[in-house]
Amino acid sequence: MTVLAVDSLSKTFDMHVLGDTKVVGLDDVSFDVRDGEFLAVVGESGSGKSSLLKCLYRTYDPTAGEVVYHGPDGDVDLAACPDRTVIDLRGTTIGYTSQFLDEIPRVPAVDVVARPLVEQGADREEARDHARELLAALSVPEQLWEAYPATFSGGERQRVNLAQALAPKPELLLLDEPTSALDPETRQAAIDLLSTYLGSETTVVGVFHNTDVVEAVADRVLVLDEGGLQRVVPIESYNEEVMLG
Ligand SMILES: Nc1ncnc2c1ncn2[C@@H]1O[C@H](COP(=O)(O)OP(=O)(O)OP(=O)(O)O)[C@@H](O)[C@H]1O
Ligand SMILES: [Mg+2]
Repeated sequence: MTVLAVDSLSKTFDMHVLGDTKVVGLDDVSFDVRDGEFLAVVGESGSGKSSLLKCLYRTYDPTAGEVVYHGPDGDVDLAACPDRTVIDLRGTTIGYTSQFLDEIPRVPAVDVVARPLVEQGADREEARDHARELLAALSVPEQLWEAYPATFSGGERQRVNLAQALAPKPELLLLDEPTSALDPETRQAAIDLLSTYLGSETTVVGVFHNTDVVEAVADRVLVLDEGGLQRVVPIESYNEEVMLG
């Protein structure tokens, strides 16, 4: 079963400040994402990884191509559907964490994580308990749980972001370098949570820099090169490539 069918997806940026030149973010990329799989996206800096995720989440309007999401309520082309549909899906079935930490409102960390659960109708205290479990699993120190993430370190904020995205177990989860600011120990905690907390009901497309993380979590690996799709390989072949250098 396919959850996402990406067909000839392209994104070009018109750079008016550069005398109307065009910058290619993504160039004619096609691939499928299977139900329940963890697809890792890798590639050099500037190869289009974040642009790809932003096109899937419709933060960017793709310039061309289709992103057909086979969701619970039928097929939707995320590249072309009305904004309203995107907003509804974001609330319920598609989750996303951005690479660069968003400005977080003056809300305690535990409530930042609990919010999506409360929005989906969970009891507030139960949602807060659940949020505490996730923060503990990611080794966020307990004295920070009631503090505002605005003052947190990059790695602490990143873990709050990740906990918030994981909490509702969305059907499709898009993660842009969710472990980049973590040290080896907390990164391992994040890997453990990613591997144990999400069941096969969640399909993940995750951008990762670190080959250890890819090896630990991915089922298949998509390699981007200068905006184009270079290949999609099973994790076993990818690991062999990495070992052979
Ligand atoms: N909003 C934008 N406006 C103009 N150019 C952009 C924009 N977003 C991305 N680009 C360009 O698209 C290309 C791909 O960028 P992208 O951020 O997708 O790369 P990346 O693979 O995520 O890199 P990194 O590993 O550094 O995060 C780059 O050349 C970048 O300058
Ligand atoms: Mg990026």
